[in-house]
Amino acid sequence: MQTLTVDLGDRSYPIHIGPGLLDRAELVAPHLAQKRAMVVTNTTVAPLYLARLTAALEGAGVAVANVVLPDGEAYKNWETLNLVFDALLAGRAERKTTLIALGGGVIGDMTGFAAACYQRGVPFVQIPTTLLSQVDSSVGGKTGINHPLGKNMIGAFYQPKVVLADTDTLKTLPARELSAGLAEVIKYGLIRDAAFLAWLEANMTKLRALDPAAITHAIHRSCEIKAQVVAEDEREGGLRAILNLGHTFGHAIESGMGYGTWLHGEAVAAGMVLAAMASQRLGWLDAADVARTRAIVRAAGLPDAAPELPFETWLEYMGHDKKVEGGRLRFVLLKKLGEAVITGDVSEAVLREILTR
Ligand code: NAD
Ligand code: GLY
Repeated sequence: MQTLTVDLGDRSYPIHIGPGLLDRAELVAPHLAQKRAMVVTNTTVAPLYLARLTAALEGAGVAVANVVLPDGEAYKNWETLNLVFDALLAGRAERKTTLIALGGGVIGDMTGFAAACYQRGVPFVQIPTTLLSQVDSSVGGKTGINHPLGKNMIGAFYQPKVVLADTDTLKTLPARELSAGLAEVIKYGLIRDAAFLAWLEANMTKLRALDPAAITHAIHRSCEIKAQVVAEDEREGGLRAILNLGHTFGHAIESGMGYGTWLHGEAVAAGMVLAAMASQRLGWLDAADVARTRAIVRAAGLPDAAPELPFETWLEYMGHDKKVEGGRLRFVLLKKLGEAVITGDVSEAVLREILTR
């Protein structure tokens, strides 16, 4: 097992990465304020892992309730969130009862938001079971739900007490979902670490085959980069926005196509290629850099081109991005491979050119 820390003063917390962690209740128990927990999961993950986690926690003397939500991005909304509150209230969960998110990013984001709201804040634990959630969404405290007009528009910053990334759970993950997670892994190389990007290029086949050493290194390095950025700028006053490379375009794809049609990671992948193209138009990347971005995205089994949407649809959905300031769109682009910048200097002409080609 490897462990690293998200350094946020008295809200710091460990991320444990390795095989077999679902059975290691001793990693969770010290973070519980009382020996009661409610596991939030979904109809896909529950049959795979809920019984094991419950048995491990009960073995450590923890009373465990659960709520099983419908599965899918399309359910990341108020109605589904309310099912968690219903279960918490019906089960008389208290202020010290811990919510445990068992699942991918949808479950993690909703559980974290429920924890932030229930009785104005109860502790929560992240047990991410997709690659995307192990390298990104379980770390850093962004929680929330979607609105029909915009992705992740309703939410809160709320940090977990501990993150347990059990790499064995990736064995049951469909290949398409594994690729979606690789999009966020590639993102870390593009924004912050050219050497990691080169390592990913050399190891993509191993990663897609879930080679234990390769996948553990990729998760560890990704979490390390994310933890550094979050420690510097927890509430996205500036720097943290670089973690959104490809996301302005990607969120527009997700909303514009209808939630769940494109996976989040797929939309981010196509968005990162668009960001590389825009960076080339601004004279920062050259054609070879854009080709490299496309190639690694493709090697990960991800789309390297955006779907066809009317230009007005792009503008409409990109206009709901959280980086918009004074009505002006802002994008995360690349000064070079391994270095991101946030800029409002992308003209409508450039956008039209890259989005309607
Ligand atoms: P997801 O949660 O929808 O999971 C993908 C699919 O895999 C689901 O069907 C899920 O039930 C299933 N699944 C989960 N674990 C499994 C396993 N071990 N074996 C088999 N199937 C399994 O999607 P995701 O890609 O994990 O997360 C995407 C979500 O995360 C989006 O809503 C996105 O907005 C959010 N996100 C949040 C942050 C953040 O910082 N909070 C960062 C990135 C993404
Ligand atoms: N996934 C972007 C962030 O956590 O800031």
